[in-house]
Amino acid sequence: MFTKRIACIGAGYVGGPTMAMIAMKCPQYKVIVADLNKARIDAWQTDSLPIYEPGLLDVVQAARGRNLFFTTDIAGAIREAEIIFVSVNTPTKTFGEGAGRAADLQYWEKVAREILRESTSPKIVIEKSTLPVKTAQTMETILNAKGDGVHFEVISNPEFLAEGTAVKDLLEPDRVLIGSRETPEGLKARQEIVDIYANWVPAERIVTSNVWSAELSKLVANAFLAQRISSINSISALCEKTEANVREVAHAVGMDSRVGSRFLNASVGFGGSCFKKDILNLVYICESYGLHEVARYWESVITMNEYQEQRFVRAMIRAMFNTIVDKRIALFGFSFKADTSDTRESPAIFVARKLMEERARVVITDPKAIENARHDLEGAPVEYAEDPYQAARGAHAVAIMTEWEEYRTLDWGKIYGSMEKPAFLFDGRNILDHKGLYELGFNVYPLGSPAYRHF
Ligand SMILES: NC(=O)c1ccc[n+]([C@@H]2O[C@H](COP(=O)([O-])OP(=O)(O)OC[C@H]3O[C@@H](n4cnc5c(N)ncnc54)[C@H](O)[C@@H]3O)[C@@H](O)[C@H]2O)c1
Repeated sequence: MFTKRIACIGAGYVGGPTMAMIAMKCPQYKVIVADLNKARIDAWQTDSLPIYEPGLLDVVQAARGRNLFFTTDIAGAIREAEIIFVSVNTPTKTFGEGAGRAADLQYWEKVAREILRESTSPKIVIEKSTLPVKTAQTMETILNAKGDGVHFEVISNPEFLAEGTAVKDLLEPDRVLIGSRETPEGLKARQEIVDIYANWVPAERIVTSNVWSAELSKLVANAFLAQRISSINSISALCEKTEANVREVAHAVGMDSRVGSRFLNASVGFGGSCFKKDILNLVYICESYGLHEVARYWESVITMNEYQEQRFVRAMIRAMFNTIVDKRIALFGFSFKADTSDTRESPAIFVARKLMEERARVVITDPKAIENARHDLEGAPVEYAEDPYQAARGAHAVAIMTEWEEYRTLDWGKIYGSMEKPAFLFDGRNILDHKGLYELGFNVYPLGSPAYRHF
């Protein structure tokens, strides 16, 4: 009764939401999401989903059990489907050649080999994970190694969703990119994938290209986004020296329609599982083609991010009279951005560790990410508090690490009243009313503009 059978290997931040959206929008397709992590698959079958994304539960509930299924039977899912999305993790390699830079493709290759082993009919295999340009070639070589006449077509369909807004991004994507070989078989497979998205995405937003352009575009998109953050963060340091205000500068610069206003907020730095990893990957690829200047150029985006994180901690220590030994410091937010529980590469991890090195007493509060924080800082002497008011009680300083909307509307007067004096506030996301907080009694340290101090 289903007109297509689609499988997705990898039920993470990308595989889960993407497939849930396809299933919700296309009741005529059967969608099977498979993962070897049983706890994750079990959680997808409950209403406590394994990841937090606003609106995701509604999407999952609309299709689960109807045409959306979660399983650990990877082989079965491969056998049943004619279209297989692969959305496994592709972290930075931690060993051997290219360690610390190249993408670790072991998970991807294992899946490719499993597809090869289990397939008795032709399949379209889709790179959903972010991969180095030219990976499709390797995949084709592995998949067509058996020579038994079963044909595989490899398509690149990178995912551009952002955590925290995944449902909205999937519902109304800026674009969907589908790259293929430009052979008759490749173009036919490309059209099959276009047809899936055409169920809800307007035709002009479905972009097609050759397979290498699609692979590379994902790395470049993330590199450009991260570059904007590093650009404005570099200017925040200059603003602090010159009495310019980075919010005013960003506003004025962003009003130029050629520049645009989004992604120009100075902050403690970017995090997340993708930006750093994808830039490192881009750098590695450039190096491997001998493009050293290009590699250095993109590498500097990461260097600037690290500088910003370090600068933030240094400023905290300096402001608090050059010692934070035994001082209670409350970190407000631990996820790498608002509206997600994801803490991978969160600047808060770096800041928490540095503060502990300086022997501060660190307290962490976050509306969604405390469980992940416990995991990231396992064994460290950290206190966790669900309630931000409790976290701040008796603290010498509060540092905003994540731009959670609720932090804007806290009763900051009450928080000030419960803290040690002088009370410090470091706004690592530039989201609060700095002058107002100063008037409540805080010594306030924004990013990229002068501090408001009572002494
Ligand atoms: N997280 C994002 O915001 C985002 C956005 C766009 C693209 N991407 C890219 O998408 C890919 C997946 O990212 P993610 O955040 O969803 O990762 P994730 O770690 O959340 O999920 C990956 C899943 O793959 C599973 N897996 C690994 N090897 C497997 C195998 N052999 N068989 C079955 N399952 C296997 C893991 O158990 C895990 O559940 C990455 O390449 C990433 O760069 C991520």
